[in-house]
Amino acid sequence: MAVKTIDDVDVAGKRVLVRADLNVPLKDGEVADDTRVVATLPTVRKLLGRGARVILCSHLGRPKGEVKAELSLRPVATVLSEKLGRDVAFVETCVGPEAEAAANRLADGDVLLLENTRFWPGEEANDATFARGLAALADVFVNDAFGTAHRKHASNYGVAELVKPAVAGYLLAKEVQYFDRLMERPPRPLLFVLGGAKLSTKLAVVTNMLEKVDHFLIGGGMAYTFLKAQGRNVGASLVEDDFLADAKKILAEGGESIELPGDHVIARALDDPASARAVDCASIPKGYVGVDIGSETIQRFTAATVGAGAIFWNGPMGVFEVPAFADGTEAVARAIAESGAVTVAGGGETVQAARQFGVAGRLSHVSTGGGASLKYLEGKPLAAIDVLDRK
Ligand code: 3PG
Repeated sequence: MAVKTIDDVDVAGKRVLVRADLNVPLKDGEVADDTRVVATLPTVRKLLGRGARVILCSHLGRPKGEVKAELSLRPVATVLSEKLGRDVAFVETCVGPEAEAAANRLADGDVLLLENTRFWPGEEANDATFARGLAALADVFVNDAFGTAHRKHASNYGVAELVKPAVAGYLLAKEVQYFDRLMERPPRPLLFVLGGAKLSTKLAVVTNMLEKVDHFLIGGGMAYTFLKAQGRNVGASLVEDDFLADAKKILAEGGESIELPGDHVIARALDDPASARAVDCASIPKGYVGVDIGSETIQRFTAATVGAGAIFWNGPMGVFEVPAFADGTEAVARAIAESGAVTVAGGGETVQAARQFGVAGRLSHVSTGGGASLKYLEGKPLAAIDVLDRK
């Protein structure tokens, strides 16, 4: 990786501002899923072990520059404190005298968590004054927030221009390492398992990956836009008519490297599992929507994972949250996990599916970034990584 990491800098006795992605789901005022907190612990532990004074900051949700009590990071301080086995101080601000006093009170090995950066309008505007306020707290800046790396905000971009050194934490470095490896020198053949509801949200990904990938398997709702573009009868399935021309173009360019579902599970509605039945591609009747790939497609897609050198997985094959429509996603998830390939899964729903089917621990890498991982796959630079110090 070209950017420096915490291993390249001296942090002993220094105030180290760590931009983490602590954008966790909350329920009844408590952290409902601590995955993102756990993901940043190796960086925090390493810094503490080397005698740093750690100041953590993050956004939580989208409060749009206003204080919203229900989006306070305070509950995250409690979880951090439990996980680290030491007190984690919390301040209800992130810039100004109170934050500076709290940062200056830290002794070596202490941890402070700042309030939600998005309570300040200057955060998303990458405002110079707000960035200077954050910079005043720190001698070293560490970005460990891959999930936000596609955003150019004050806490991950503006501050990195002001505090030097500005380096990557272990989580960010690991994410970039996996994505770069599969983008630039993947073990071949490289398979891309793509799903999810809409082609529109992943069009740039498909376009960029088309020439890099050896084999595309396309399932989920977006498959119906491709099937309609081929002139198939898709009943009342989700189709983005505005993207039929794009779908046609992709199919023409991808040729035999792209595989689409040949049979389906259909239902009258997503909330009507009792109406589910299996059909082949030619016969989705009026009034029915495709909700999962069918058994022939499952066989074909799972067989395609055998012998793959590397697999990107982004998006479910069907409406996996409904048990009657989950077989395709489950079978493909298991096949990916058992393939022996280098496997990278990204995207909120994909991670949820990997967990639901108990395969998350068997994938080489489960990305903590949704939007950020898509941007990477689009081949676009991630602003907050580009601004970090180079080796
Ligand atoms: C995420 O959840 O994908 C990241 O935390 C980024 O959140 P955002 O989309 O609100 O910037």
